[in-house]
Amino acid sequence: MKLQAPRGTRDIFGKDALSYQMVERAFMDLALVYGFQPIRTPTFEPTGTFKRSLGDSTDIVNKEMYTFLDRSETSLTLRPEGTAPVVRAMISNGLTREVPLKFYYLGSMFRYERPQKGRYREFFQLGVECLGPNDPKVDCEVMALGHHLFKKLKIEDKIQLEINSLGDEESRKSYKKKLFSYFSKFKSELSEDSQRRLTSNPLRILDSKDEKDQKFLTEVPSLADSLNDPSRKYFDKVLKSLDDLKIPYVINAKLVRGLDYYNHTIWEFTTTALGAQNAVLSGGRYDGLMKTMGGPSLPGVGFGGGIDRMVLLLEEGLSKTIPSVAVVAMAEEAQAEAFALLNELRYQDIPSVMFFSGQPGKQLKKANKKECWGALLIGEDELKNNSVSLKDFESGQQLSIPRDQIASDIKKRLTKFKEQTQKVEDC
Ligand code: HAM
Repeated sequence: MKLQAPRGTRDIFGKDALSYQMVERAFMDLALVYGFQPIRTPTFEPTGTFKRSLGDSTDIVNKEMYTFLDRSETSLTLRPEGTAPVVRAMISNGLTREVPLKFYYLGSMFRYERPQKGRYREFFQLGVECLGPNDPKVDCEVMALGHHLFKKLKIEDKIQLEINSLGDEESRKSYKKKLFSYFSKFKSELSEDSQRRLTSNPLRILDSKDEKDQKFLTEVPSLADSLNDPSRKYFDKVLKSLDDLKIPYVINAKLVRGLDYYNHTIWEFTTTALGAQNAVLSGGRYDGLMKTMGGPSLPGVGFGGGIDRMVLLLEEGLSKTIPSVAVVAMAEEAQAEAFALLNELRYQDIPSVMFFSGQPGKQLKKANKKECWGALLIGEDELKNNSVSLKDFESGQQLSIPRDQIASDIKKRLTKFKEQTQKVEDC
């Protein structure tokens, strides 16, 4: 049997792999600008990290976790998301005394979902978490980072910010009560999952995709009507901060998010360009999570963004390969000098390649095919004259450059080349 990547996973290479790297770099640079520090947590965690935090009634915990017993019978789970591991790490490492705690992360997450375009079983997320401050401006700051990232990636036109508030504990409780009495009237007609959710957490019925439940969702009581005064005020301040920063948004009164740890502000940056998988970056406030996980009562807010979905939204022009120059030895006795030149170019940060085998003519053809912008040739004559010949593939010109000026000459050409492509991209 042929070996293949498991269902819902992919091998990512070529221009796609470069696009992933580009998104990740843009995010890392920006996260540092916003004062977040990197954190890496294990790819698998004790199962309790997720069971305790995400909620027993959520789809993730119920149906989607990759949970297994290791050889010493410990129950472990491949992380389905990044917030609970980061909060667990802050508690485990005693980091909770100095606030604010601002961390960013990148990595693969695992959910046993039905694969389709933009939805995978192993997918890549970038995320930030900020613990300590309980200020509406911090919710806004975190959303501003998401908005800024989309601007940097030039995909902001394809994305809109949808926002809602779940309110505080009291507001959520009162809303759950209203939902319970509303859905109880149709209990026997609800899907099996939702009948269970009715007692465990009726809020979860609102994310149900089951047709049986759909017809009862249109008349559902409004979440906004259940917000108490402090919750209403908190949300108004978040919206005011977004207005101040001129970040556009729409209020989506039906947005509830699929994880139990949220309270107050929740949001999703969505797109219409990816079919059903419309959430590109989502998050919210989670003031009770750290306490639930056995730490001090530190409020938090953050987001997780789907890198795979961002890559799908990128403009073609952004995902291009980095052009290199090829070094070709035109004669056997020039091999060592050509190899030394290659090494020198790389120490000058000049992208360069050598093909090592095949006739020089074939190597030149390969260089053209592999999207090199030119080739540096060293043969008997060049060795004698202490020079290198540059063949520019675009102009077709060939010229001789003194050996000791080659690195600085190529650097100048690359700067010019970069300026020109930048101008084209900016148009
Ligand atoms: P989430 O909404 O479950 O939230 O996931 C965040 C993002 O990950 C989604 O908006 C989506 O872009 C991407 N995503 C989710 N599932 C898949 C999948 N199967 N395939 C591809 N992309 C996917 C969280 O994970 C929270 N931890 C976010 C958060 C951080 N809230 C506060 N802090």
